Amino acid sequence: PDNLVIIKNVDFIQRENETMKICEEVYYYYSLLYNESLKLNLKLTIFSAYRSYEKQQLIFQRNPDEYYVAKAGYSEHQTGLALDVSTRNTGLTKNFMYTNEYKFLLNNAYKYGFIIRYPDDKMHITGYLFEPWHLRFVGIEHAKRIYENNLTLEEYLS
Ligand code: DAL
Ligand code: ZN
Repeated sequence: PDNLVIIKNVDFIQRENETMKICEEVYYYYSLLYNESLKLNLKLTIFSAYRSYEKQQLIFQRNPDEYYVAKAGYSEHQTGLALDVSTRNTGLTKNFMYTNEYKFLLNNAYKYGFIIRYPDDKMHITGYLFEPWHLRFVGIEHAKRIYENNLTLEEYLS
């Protein structure tokens, strides 16, 4: 992507010598979602955003589980349209699904153009295990239809 911006002004995990980047439009809409969550006293944190091919390769090498990590060249994180969002307490674990922050995303993310990309009961369609934290930006119009019809992106596109 050629329109990446540096993430700031929202909570994210700061890793040494690394800035977190995401597509400009995604940053704009995530900021709106985030500000809405703050009003409800919720604390969402970004754990991962844009990833380069090399970064994805490294992650896959460290954890070569095809049901959890995309191979380099196949991750939505490389498009700058995906964000991993959880609370600082739960991190990227299934425990996130028991938080009010997750409940908030489940019911509100689509209003800002995001879908929960790898739902619990759709592994046979998406090819990935449940990832309550992985948000994919598709724009408000598509996200609303996907949400209302309880679809995955695969089902929606086909
Ligand atoms: N964990 C998701 C599938 C990715 O690596 O893009
Ligand atoms: Zn992810």
